[in-house]
Amino acid sequence: MNAYRDLRVAVLGCGSVGSQVARLILEEGDELAARVGARLTLVGIAVRDLDAPREADLPRELFTTDADRLVLGADVVVELMGGIEPARSLIVRALEGGADVVTANKALIAAHGPELRAASEQVGAQLSYEAAVAGAIPIIRPLEWSLAGDRITRVMGIVNGSTNYILDRMDRFGDTAEDAMRVAAELGFLEADPTLDVEGYDAAQKATILASIAFHTEVPVDKVHREGIREITAEQIETAKHAGSVIKLLAVAERLAASDGTPGVSARVYPALISRDHPLAAVHEGKNAVFVEAEAAGELMFYGAGAGGVETASAVLGDLVSAARRHVVGG
Ligand code: HSE
Repeated sequence: MNAYRDLRVAVLGCGSVGSQVARLILEEGDELAARVGARLTLVGIAVRDLDAPREADLPRELFTTDADRLVLGADVVVELMGGIEPARSLIVRALEGGADVVTANKALIAAHGPELRAASEQVGAQLSYEAAVAGAIPIIRPLEWSLAGDRITRVMGIVNGSTNYILDRMDRFGDTAEDAMRVAAELGFLEADPTLDVEGYDAAQKATILASIAFHTEVPVDKVHREGIREITAEQIETAKHAGSVIKLLAVAERLAASDGTPGVSARVYPALISRDHPLAAVHEGKNAVFVEAEAAGELMFYGAGAGGVETASAVLGDLVSAARRHVVGG
């Protein structure tokens, strides 16, 4: 048997994503160890309520309510609690202690990304958040690494599955907004506060993250122009259809050259009319897609599941493996 180096992984939060991440670490341990060259040892899962029901069958002895203590001894901290606090403080503490951090927390990265990135750079730790935008779809790493040698000119995404589901059902099946929204809630796409989806806040957070990475500059979330889908009517959807178009809630970020020549970025979330010939028009139900335009690469599209416990866990695991490989390479 191979004597792999042991990497201590702490998971914070055990909701639909956290429980799947913990399950996969436990179930895929041997295969991940062989692939990474290190054993990912799940040392604990921090939760608020030890007795809450879980979506995966996990050993009870892994659960703790003491997140502070769990973070202290970890090599990699996986934050899946959501919200700003205590997630932010725990991540800062983990980074200051030299741990790498993986998070799916879009609200936190949108609001505190610069500060957290600076904290990670200061100590040479890795902060990764592939799962924060568009669930399972690899988009952060492609923008940050794969396209690093190109000049991205525009990023255009359907990054909110709930509103895509609602608009798509209204367009293709004539569902009412209320019916479609009820099913979106049953499918688990909607945020606990559906206003975040319907009024475009969730998409604006994701737009901030995408714009900041694609254009190598901080784009604060309050600078993202935001319009939601609440005002969209069945008549508008019908009119669009007759004109060969479809209405989609888009998050758009693009490079602008100001009149004085200084580069700038425009970021906006709004219900846009898209021609039915455009690949984004074929993104149905709760799926997400991000369409990228770059000077050398041309047009690229990244498509897939933008939400869901196990789907999002895939992106988290990818970041976790990347962090683990650094430890192996670093000795
Ligand atoms: N409420 C979000 C959505 C969940 O509908 O896409 C995934 O971020």
